[in-house]
Amino acid sequence: MISKNSKIYVAGHNGLVGSAIVRKLKQKGYNNILTASKNKLDLTNQNKVFNFLKKNKPKFLFIAAAKVGGILSNNKYKADFIYNNLSIQTNLIHSAYLNKINNLIFLGSSCVYPRNCKQPIKEEYLMNGKLEETNDAYAVAKIAGLKMCESYNQQYGTNYKCLMPTNTFGPNDNYDDMNSHFFPALIKKIHKLKVKKKYNLKIWGNGKAKREVIYVDDVADACIYFMKKKIKESIINIGTGKDYTIKDYAKIIISEIYPDSKVKIIFDNSKPNGTPRKVLNVSLAKKYGWVAKNKLRNSIQKTYKDFVKIF
Ligand SMILES: NC(=O)c1ccc[n+]([C@@H]2O[C@H](COP(=O)([O-])OP(=O)(O)OC[C@H]3O[C@@H](n4cnc5c(N)ncnc54)[C@H](OP(=O)(O)O)[C@@H]3O)[C@@H](O)[C@H]2O)c1
Repeated sequence: MISKNSKIYVAGHNGLVGSAIVRKLKQKGYNNILTASKNKLDLTNQNKVFNFLKKNKPKFLFIAAAKVGGILSNNKYKADFIYNNLSIQTNLIHSAYLNKINNLIFLGSSCVYPRNCKQPIKEEYLMNGKLEETNDAYAVAKIAGLKMCESYNQQYGTNYKCLMPTNTFGPNDNYDDMNSHFFPALIKKIHKLKVKKKYNLKIWGNGKAKREVIYVDDVADACIYFMKKKIKESIINIGTGKDYTIKDYAKIIISEIYPDSKVKIIFDNSKPNGTPRKVLNVSLAKKYGWVAKNKLRNSIQKTYKDFVKIF
């Protein structure tokens, strides 16, 4: 059982999800949190990972370290995505097992489900069809991580769980023009208009594609909740179960960060729309008593407050 004094290692504590897990653990009174930055511990190095766990002996592990990016970088740097993710997760999961860490949360992602799968997406649709080509290298690595957790549970009786969050946003997000996801990219574009007092917001595609987003504090909450919860499945979707069009998100973000403006949304139809709809079925998480609690508008405000500190 996890207690306030349990030694908990959060891998990837500087990232969007990892930093939120550390914040949430501290808020909840956990006082023995272990972290290590990339320059001290490169998680692609098998020996270093093993020795770190052997020396520090954490009992619980959250794997929020990964190579993550948007559609452009996923498509352009497939070798980096598959190599880094396979290495990081393999080193952590196997070394966790060797060092008797029985409880671990591994982060998968909603983008590893098949490209054309039925909506809302159930956990059982995993590997039911062809992957989205632009991120197949990343997805194959993640699926290997999920299978690794399942296999260790089956063969060694470990308690390794994989959470599958939908598009996540919040403080510490990545706003790099080449590397960000659609939601932080929208926040940055609208902020730029505000600073320059401009009114034309250009977005990719026709704006009709529907997507689901979740605030990162909800993902962190789910990670801690399911670390403690006894469940029989090893994969569980984490989302709000609600989706809106990209156009709706643009309007909501405009009304939150650039209110009373006359922003006009211009659709760049030369750019792809992506899959028409992507939303998770979250009934399994609900069945175990977990639901996302943060409201969208309030979460945008908290995210934007953090964003303006950096930009
Ligand atoms: N963001 C989303 O929308 C989303 C949605 C679903 C699932 N997820 C999953 O959630 C997890 C975390 O994603 P995130 O958005 O929080 O990513 P992120 O912000 O990019 O954070 C990833 C962290 O991993 C660290 N890292 C990368 N390579 C490393 C290495 N070789 N050694 C040590 N540390 C390394 C990074 O350190 P540096 O900062 O030093 O590079 C960074 O702190 C991922 O597994 C991702 O698939 C994310």
